[in-house]
Amino acid sequence: MASEAIPCFLAYLLLQILAVNAKVPAIIVFGDSSVDSGNNNHVGTLLKSNFAPYGRDFRGGKPTGRFSNGRIPTDFISEAFGNKPLIPAYLDTTYDIKDFATGVCFASAGTGYDNATSDVLSVIPLWKELEYYKEYQKKLRGYLGNEKAKDLLGEALYLISIGTNDFLENYYIFRGRKSQFSVVEYQHFLVQIARNFLTELHRLGARKVSISGLPPMGCLPLERTTNLFSGSHCIEEYNNVARDFNKKLNGMIIELNKELAGIKLVLSNPYDILSQIIQNPSSFGFENAAKACCGTGMFEMSYLCNKRSPFTCSDANKYVFWDSFHPTEKTNKIIADYVVKNSLAQFL
Ligand SMILES: *[C@@H]1O[C@H](CO)[C@@H](O)[C@H](O)[C@H]1NC(C)=O
Repeated sequence: MASEAIPCFLAYLLLQILAVNAKVPAIIVFGDSSVDSGNNNHVGTLLKSNFAPYGRDFRGGKPTGRFSNGRIPTDFISEAFGNKPLIPAYLDTTYDIKDFATGVCFASAGTGYDNATSDVLSVIPLWKELEYYKEYQKKLRGYLGNEKAKDLLGEALYLISIGTNDFLENYYIFRGRKSQFSVVEYQHFLVQIARNFLTELHRLGARKVSISGLPPMGCLPLERTTNLFSGSHCIEEYNNVARDFNKKLNGMIIELNKELAGIKLVLSNPYDILSQIIQNPSSFGFENAAKACCGTGMFEMSYLCNKRSPFTCSDANKYVFWDSFHPTEKTNKIIADYVVKNSLAQFL
């Protein structure tokens, strides 16, 4: 009996220590596949990753719906803040408000700022993520009471990572937005949506907020594959758009920090670190940055990256990318460490 009681007591103690050491009471996540921890498992879309070999290097080799072989940046960020090492997906019914009170993810792979982007693969639009967040607030007030819930929501760290799909899954693929907007106008359109989203989040009580810039999206293996016959180089046009967009986003952030009382809003920009990794993979311990681990590494993602994909690599740690669109766990950890140090340190 004693042998059972002690581990239980230790587990309790450990939770207490975690709670004491946590720098923020909760991590609350919005965005796309870069941070989706499994919401798309519960959505009628083809964009899923809750099957092998996804999750191959996750605890128990479990495919959770994260688009990687293991954890994603928000999991690592949560851990770095002394919170839990995994952020549960809001639509996963194996969790409840007790779990979500210390961290929750509303993100949905394939979504974007633009409603037309989430329509492409029938995933959760950003405005709907915010509706789920309001529902979460209600549950939290029921669980903690109004006062404690309000404190928690004001002290929590909000992480938003979204935007790549607006360009790669929507603007550059379909005529719709391209016939309406130049690429510069489209960037302004998206930044305006981001501004409205952040303003609403602030109105709902958020104060510590990080919004992520775009990665060097022309270097994602899937985009390089479209350059196959000219050497599989990165598409510089897309990288230029990402850098432009990040500048516009940063300008908007500076304005909102003046406009919205009490907000601390930061840009978490993965562009430079990911560029460095891609240009010089060996100095980070990688062997391959041009092709992904899964399958041929040129186009496989979601259902195309599966147990029967030929040539899937045996050691994902040698690869920057896990599938043709998403980094490996090792890359995710480097990005998370970089972001914590360079953008989120003030919240630690
Ligand atoms: C997106 O759709 C929602 C729901 O229909 C709507 O409220 C919102 O205004 C739309 N956003 C844009 C930018 O059109």
